[in-house]
Amino acid sequence: MKKILSLILALAMVATLFGCGGGAAGGNKVGVAMPTKSLQRWNQDGDNMKKALEAAGYTVDLQYADNSVETQVSQIENMINSGCKVLVIASIEGDSLGTVLAQAKEKGVKVIAYDRLIMNSDAVSYYATFDNYMVGTKQGEYLEKELGLKEGKGPFNIELITGDPGDNNARFFFGGAMDVLQPYIDSGKLVVKSGQVDFDTVATQSWSTENAQNRFDAIISANYADGTKLDAVLASNDSTAMGVTNALVAAGFTPGENWPLITGQDCDVANVKNMIEGKQAMSIFKDTRTLAAKTVEMVDAIMKGTDAPVNDTKTYDNGTGIIPSYLCEPVFADINNYKELLIDSGYYTEDQLK
Ligand code: BGC
Repeated sequence: MKKILSLILALAMVATLFGCGGGAAGGNKVGVAMPTKSLQRWNQDGDNMKKALEAAGYTVDLQYADNSVETQVSQIENMINSGCKVLVIASIEGDSLGTVLAQAKEKGVKVIAYDRLIMNSDAVSYYATFDNYMVGTKQGEYLEKELGLKEGKGPFNIELITGDPGDNNARFFFGGAMDVLQPYIDSGKLVVKSGQVDFDTVATQSWSTENAQNRFDAIISANYADGTKLDAVLASNDSTAMGVTNALVAAGFTPGENWPLITGQDCDVANVKNMIEGKQAMSIFKDTRTLAAKTVEMVDAIMKGTDAPVNDTKTYDNGTGIIPSYLCEPVFADINNYKELLIDSGYYTEDQLK
């Protein structure tokens, strides 16, 4: 019996030595810090990252911070102290991680900014994301095409809403869309009746649906309650689009009659359902499986001491210099292509969208 036990022990030691115990990566630990469970996409991101990293042989410490910066900082501290070699972080506030990441750097722990850029920290090695500016461009171009602006149609009434000012992505989304739409506002083909056009005024704290609805309740009652047509709403993502939709429903608007074109992003289940019901025109689809796969390649490269794959070395300066980035390509989903994009690709089942 003793002999068998020591044989098993010896085999286990050899396996660990050659990295078989923890798979290809030898059981090295990766910390994955996600902002919140309250939005569908981050649950998917977290699940995909965990699965993909484990399949590559890593041990994963996955944490969600309930949109609290303090919680995220202490989760990252724990990850550093419990021996994680690489941290993958989707920050809540890009600017609030400098101090904790200085500790990471001191201990040789490498950091990948996931989806959202981490600002003003020189501890960030790489940035994996979707092309955030292109997300905005595609939303703007969608409205341009559907309204027939290029053909000179209009004037149309439009309102604008974007995301959290502490999220570096929000400025890229809004900037990309406004680069398409601003010329039409300048020429009078698009009219923003509320007058609310600058980033700070149209931003939404925490990307919250409730905050978005509150702002749109007020915009609708001040500008559109008398039957004035609201033709379009540029919403940067699905949680804010949902707030706009809720405000329209509360004010008695009806899809197919006086409903505006509304943009979005993430293809959250509830929003795809709205798309099917004619309550949301489009949503940008960012396949989180692709982003997870790219991020795992980055983790792998860091662990092996080689260079990670990047395709952009000029766009994302986090205040300490350019962060080498991999930008995945976003596409738009609407009523015409959502089946192919979302169901045929296995992202959702048909039942989930019923
Ligand atoms: C992400 C979007 C998301 C938003 C709100 C952004 O940083 O890129 O996909 O909708 O945060 O969570």
